[in-house]
Amino acid sequence: MRIAVVGSGYVGLVTGACFADLGHEVVLVDNDEKKLAALRNGEVPIHEKFLPELLARHRGQRIKFSGDLQAATRESEAVFIAVGTPPTESGDADLSYVESVAREISGGVDGYKVVVEKSTVPVYTSQWIRTIIMRNGADPAQFDVTSNPEFLREGTAVTDFLYPDRIVVGVESEQAAEVMRQLYGPLTSGWYYGRGDAIPRPEAARVPPRLIITSTKSAELIKHASNAFLAMKISFINAVASICESVGANVQQVCDGVGTDSRIGPRFLNPGIGYGGSCFPKDLMAFRAVAKESGYDFRLLEEVTRINEEQRHRFLRKVRSVLWTFRGKRLGVLGLAFKGGTDDIRESPAVLLVQELLREGCHICAYDPAAMERAQEVLTSGVEFAADAYEAATGADALLILTEWEEFAALDLDRLRALVKYPIMLDGRNLYDPAVMVEHGFSYYSVGRPAALTDELTAGTRPNKREQA
Ligand code: UDX
Repeated sequence: MRIAVVGSGYVGLVTGACFADLGHEVVLVDNDEKKLAALRNGEVPIHEKFLPELLARHRGQRIKFSGDLQAATRESEAVFIAVGTPPTESGDADLSYVESVAREISGGVDGYKVVVEKSTVPVYTSQWIRTIIMRNGADPAQFDVTSNPEFLREGTAVTDFLYPDRIVVGVESEQAAEVMRQLYGPLTSGWYYGRGDAIPRPEAARVPPRLIITSTKSAELIKHASNAFLAMKISFINAVASICESVGANVQQVCDGVGTDSRIGPRFLNPGIGYGGSCFPKDLMAFRAVAKESGYDFRLLEEVTRINEEQRHRFLRKVRSVLWTFRGKRLGVLGLAFKGGTDDIRESPAVLLVQELLREGCHICAYDPAAMERAQEVLTSGVEFAADAYEAATGADALLILTEWEEFAALDLDRLRALVKYPIMLDGRNLYDPAVMVEHGFSYYSVGRPAALTDELTAGTRPNKREQA
């Protein structure tokens, strides 16, 4: 099929590249000429596994880039809207980009088209898109608007798209449902998974995925409800972790006991310094605004956000309680991205913590495998950027793990021990076994687990021999 994807951000690029891999002809549309030129040149603007391979495979063949949305609409059977929906001051989503895209699409409706809303948007958006397209002159019989929420996680977006738990499609007509069935046919029929050159299947993936067809309003709510539920799961376990700290229990053991109940499940039960990213914080605010507008005060969501922020403050208090004073202390920081596997720092709790530590007068030496370039734009003074984790640790009064990168869970602890000024680690992501850290000479503080100290009297603050000398 011929499709247009409007917006070449995370969602648009991944959607376009994956649909091309399923055999469709894709035009990626953006109004940023610089971005288009870079994409045509072979640049990949985001850090996303398998995306460079897919773009290289299909660029100039099944994927084309264009700045002309009306022409792209005319050539396509389906037009995906994947533009940004940033939060406004009051927390609801700013839909002006979606609206201006809908206006332009209208001029290209010259035969039956399905307009697919892919951006995360509040309920009723698809109705609005329909109204705007009609207002601008398109024949209502010549198009349908469907809602097809994405559940892509950054870092694994390509495999999330190609090996989804489910595909949700909200439609108001059988004709639109048929177009959507055909678009996802290569996945739902299992055809893609039999191909020799398919992107490799993640271990836990079950194929083929189920296609869930709902009304457009239900589909819009499914997206917000899913993200809110996942954020709630994280805040829930973070609150439990705080109780564990107060009573001396171990949250890892609690998670194991709770997560093995198949009704709850173990995923998204990892405590830490709170969730960040471009979705959870924004979607929670937007969902709350939607609920309020419809007459329901969804206070649970406010509490989820409050716990999330408190989690970061708790960690800061923990650092203070270990270091006593902040001014002039040198801290090695491992991780700046909002989670492992991405270069994205939007709403990153790691960056927010570094900013708070800087305000307190600490000196920071930070390392992140992918996010340093982006972090340099917001952390402009007081931060040194290291070439690797060991350089960040060198001479540190304490070492902080703030992002759950796999490589931070496999550090050479003896080497690290020899480099730091004091062997103190504060792990905001629970990547290590406390007993192992003590064996390697570190006093180790994590989230929701008792601190593991090398020496109860000195609380692990004995400096390295080199320092003493
Ligand atoms: C999320 C949703 O998972 C995805 O379905 C949606 O389409 C977009 O939003 P993403 O923002 O990429 O995806 O990240 P995700 O992997 O969900 O993690 C979000 C945040 O929660 C990260 O900051 C991560 O560190 C944190 N997190 C996640 C935890 O603190 N504990 C967990 O157990 C899981």
